[in-house]
Amino acid sequence: MSKVGIFGAGWVGVVTAACFAELGHTTVVRDVVPERIDALRQGKLPFHEPELAELIEGNGDRITFTDDPAEAAAEADFLYICVGTPSTYSGDANLSYVWSVLDDLPELPGRPVLVMKSTVPVGTGEKVRAALDAREMEHVGYASNPEFLAEGTAVRDFLAPDRIVVGSFDPADGDRVEELHASLAAPVVRSDVPSAEMIKLAANAFLMTRISFINEIANVCELVGADVQEVARGIGLDHRLGPHFLRAGIGYGGSCFPKDASALKQLASNSGYHFQLLSAVIEVNELQKRRVIAKLQKHLGKLRGKRVALLGLSFKPNTDDMREAPSIVLASRLLAEGADVRGWDPVANPGELLNGVEICETVADAVRDADAAVIVTEWSELRDLASVEFRDSMRTPLIVDGRNLLDPAAVVKAGFAYEGIGRPTSPVGGLLEATEPKHELA
Ligand code: UDX
Repeated sequence: MSKVGIFGAGWVGVVTAACFAELGHTTVVRDVVPERIDALRQGKLPFHEPELAELIEGNGDRITFTDDPAEAAAEADFLYICVGTPSTYSGDANLSYVWSVLDDLPELPGRPVLVMKSTVPVGTGEKVRAALDAREMEHVGYASNPEFLAEGTAVRDFLAPDRIVVGSFDPADGDRVEELHASLAAPVVRSDVPSAEMIKLAANAFLMTRISFINEIANVCELVGADVQEVARGIGLDHRLGPHFLRAGIGYGGSCFPKDASALKQLASNSGYHFQLLSAVIEVNELQKRRVIAKLQKHLGKLRGKRVALLGLSFKPNTDDMREAPSIVLASRLLAEGADVRGWDPVANPGELLNGVEICETVADAVRDADAAVIVTEWSELRDLASVEFRDSMRTPLIVDGRNLLDPAAVVKAGFAYEGIGRPTSPVGGLLEATEPKHELA
C-alpha cells in the first residue's frame, strides 16, 4: 500500500483522499485554508456529496488533514494535485493554484510521482515537468490522471470508473499510478501526458455537445410537432449512440462544463485553431436558457409586473451547487423584463447570486399568486407540482417545465397550460380554457 499526499481539500481532493483510503492507501490532505482543515478534522464536509462522510469516517485511521505541505509530502509515494483551475477573464484556465502547489513543495527524497488530477489545458504537464527540472527535482516523476467525477455520484464514479486514464513521460511512473488503482476493475488507458490531458477536455466537450445537440433537436421538434423525449429514446437505443446525456432541457451548468468548454476553446484558439463546433455548443447552451423567456411571453405577453416562480435553483438536483446555474441567467433576464421573481430550492442558498429574487421556504409560497411556475432544476419534490391546490393558488395556471419532468397530458388535465422543451405544448390561449382560471389574462 502507498502513501498519497493530496494537495487541495476541495471536492475532488477530499473524494480522492477518501477513495484511496478505502482502497487501503494512507492519505494526507493538505489545504491552505486552516478553517477548512479544522472543519474536515471534525468530520464536517464543506460541500454536499452522498456517501463521502461515511467513507471518511470508516477510513479515519488512513486519512489525515493538514495545512502543512511538508506533512503531506513526507515519505509520500504520490503527490496528487487536486486544486481548482477556474476560468480567467480571458476564458483560459487559471493555473495559479497549481503553481503555488509547486512553490510549496519541500525537498523530496526518493522518487515520488507528482500526479495531476485537476483539469488543466493540454501542455500543462510539459510546463510542470520543466519547472520541476528547473528546481532540481528531476528525480520527481510526473503523471496525468484526470478525474471523471460527477457531483452526487463522485464516490461511485471513483470506485467503479468506466476507465482510468494515466499519462506519463516515463512509463515506470505510469506503471506506479496504474498499480495504485490495482484493486479497481476498470480498463486503464495509458498514454503520453498531452493525450491524457486532452482525453479529459474532449470527454467533457463531447458530453456538452450531446446536450446542445439534443436541445437543438428539441427546438426543431417544437416547430415541426415531434416529441424530443421519444426522439431521444429512439436515438439512444442505437448502440453506436447510447442513451446518455440526451435529456433536453434549459442547458447545462455547474463547476466543470462551462469552464472546461471555455478552456478548450481558448486552448485551440491560442494554438491557431477556431473550434467552430465547440463555439456553437457554448452558444446553443446560452440561448437555450433564454428560450424560457419567450415561452413565458407566448402565454403571458409582456412580463412586466408578472410574478414568476423559479423552482429549483442549483445547477442540477441533489446538490446545493449554484455555480453557473441556469437559474442565475433566468432570474436576471426576468428581472430585466420587469417581472416579480420568486425562487425556491430545497438545499441551495443562492445569496447574492439571485439579488432581487424573493427566496421562498416552500413551493407553495413560491407559486402563490404566480403567473407561471418554471421548473428550472428537476428536484423530485416538483413531481407533484400539477396539483389542484397549486393550480388554485396561482394567479395564472401556467407551468414551464424546463427539464421535461412532468407528463404534459396530466398537467393539462389538471387545468394548467403546459410548456415543455421539445414536446407538445398548450396552444396560445390555452390558459383561458384551463379549468376556471381565477383571473383574466392581461
Ligand atoms: C460533469 C461531468 O459529468 C464530470 O465527468 C466532470 O468531471 C465534471 O462535470 P457535473 O458537473 O457534476 O459533472 O454534472 P453532470 O451530472 O454531468 O451534469 C452537468 C450538467 O448537464 C447539468 O447542468 C445537467 O442538468 C446537464 N445535463 C446533463 C443536461 O442538460 N442533459 C443531460 O442529458 C445531462
